[in-house]
Amino acid sequence: MYETRILPVSDPDSLGRFRLSTSTSSSATSLDHWDATESAPGLDALVTAANHIRKTDVPVGFPTETVYGLGADATRSGAVRGIFSVKGRPSDNPLIVHVCDLDMLRELCGTELPDIYRPLVERFWPGPLTILLPVPQTSKYTLAPEVTAGLPTFGARLPASPLTRTLIRLADAPLAGPSANASTRPSPTTAQHVVDDLNGRIEVVLDGGACGVGVESTVVDGLCNPPVILRPGGVSLAELRSVPGWERVERAYNDVAHGGNAQNDAKAQKTEDELKPRAPGMKYKHYSPKARVVLYEGGKTPTRTQEALIKDIESAGQEAAVVGVVRTTTWPALASALDKATTTTNGTVAGGLTENGDGVTYHLETYSLPSGPKVLELDLGRDLSSIAHGLFSSLRDLDARGAEVILIEGIDDGGDDLASAVMNRLRKAASEVR
Ligand code: TXA
Ligand code: MG
Repeated sequence: MYETRILPVSDPDSLGRFRLSTSTSSSATSLDHWDATESAPGLDALVTAANHIRKTDVPVGFPTETVYGLGADATRSGAVRGIFSVKGRPSDNPLIVHVCDLDMLRELCGTELPDIYRPLVERFWPGPLTILLPVPQTSKYTLAPEVTAGLPTFGARLPASPLTRTLIRLADAPLAGPSANASTRPSPTTAQHVVDDLNGRIEVVLDGGACGVGVESTVVDGLCNPPVILRPGGVSLAELRSVPGWERVERAYNDVAHGGNAQNDAKAQKTEDELKPRAPGMKYKHYSPKARVVLYEGGKTPTRTQEALIKDIESAGQEAAVVGVVRTTTWPALASALDKATTTTNGTVAGGLTENGDGVTYHLETYSLPSGPKVLELDLGRDLSSIAHGLFSSLRDLDARGAEVILIEGIDDGGDDLASAVMNRLRKAASEVR
């Protein structure tokens, strides 16, 4: 057991900057070399974390723009095994390798990037996109075999967070980093979430505030033709298709709810082979709070009336004393309606508050239905980025407040946008899909 410490990092933007590389003039880009700024105010915490990465086999919690990661030196087997044991992660699920700049990636690959990736990298890096590359035979850095779980490819990502890049620069090695949740739990989007899952199992979590994006990176494979998306994430299908060479990119993941009643899902008609995920991580139960999640597939029109929702809550109340309700784009606000009707229904609205869970903001109201359960009604907002931003945090928050069942309003994911990533995570978290 360790004493897990949260180390805040102030002013991440002052930590470093990109410069052109002197050694690669033929293909120089603005992402060539990331320099840490000496004596930047937040550097002390990063030096402490980087020393852990260099000298120990205990991974370090670190923020990125997507979710918090659990990082170790990708070239040392002992350190990488530490990630798997801390998370309880199956060893056949490979890890993403984070680099701080293109020079580090070139040194890792021993060559330039394949042409197919160049326009993609130019457009979306640094950012929430992971690209598959062949595992190099000889290079400055040799990846520990545990990173790739025996696959001939590895996932590479250059994160948008200057804090992440500076940590990698100071650790002086590519950083293997899965999301920093305990296996099967929702991904962490604050430092406190990491501690909630891994307290005592790691020594240090860097705190860079709440993650901006809130869902993980998009994982793409451009080594096959046409290129494919292995996991939807922060960069959407429509955005990928706007890039030369990526117009025909296809989905190669399945969205069948893990524990769900698949008859509602058209994809359930497909054969086993078609549904076999090509990113090994996509086959596992994932993103789940302790509460049972009931997902309502979303559409453009309202999927539930106020009366129907209240009935659903009452029926959930037969198995749960506390029911969470997560609203997104169309469900009516129940608390305010009940408030007005208090005198007739005898329902009590015990306060409408704006919840500020570690920098993740959403509206939460707590009340009891006259006929039964205590209700925690949470509003993620209507726009996609706020839904993605608050998604994992809201599931964790409702867990912490004792919800035993969570009814959650899905969103329309027919538009090739960030909604695909949100619905992919929700379908995997759900025990039942309606
Ligand atoms: O945003 C993110 O990507 C975050 C932050 C921390 O960077 N990381 C993350 O890592 O989500 P993780 O380990 O939770 O998810 C990595 C996903 C898994 O589904 C894994 O199977 C897939 O990427 N993956 C990694 N390497 C792969 C490979 N060589 N081939 C196919 N899939 C791969
Ligand atoms: Mg993960």
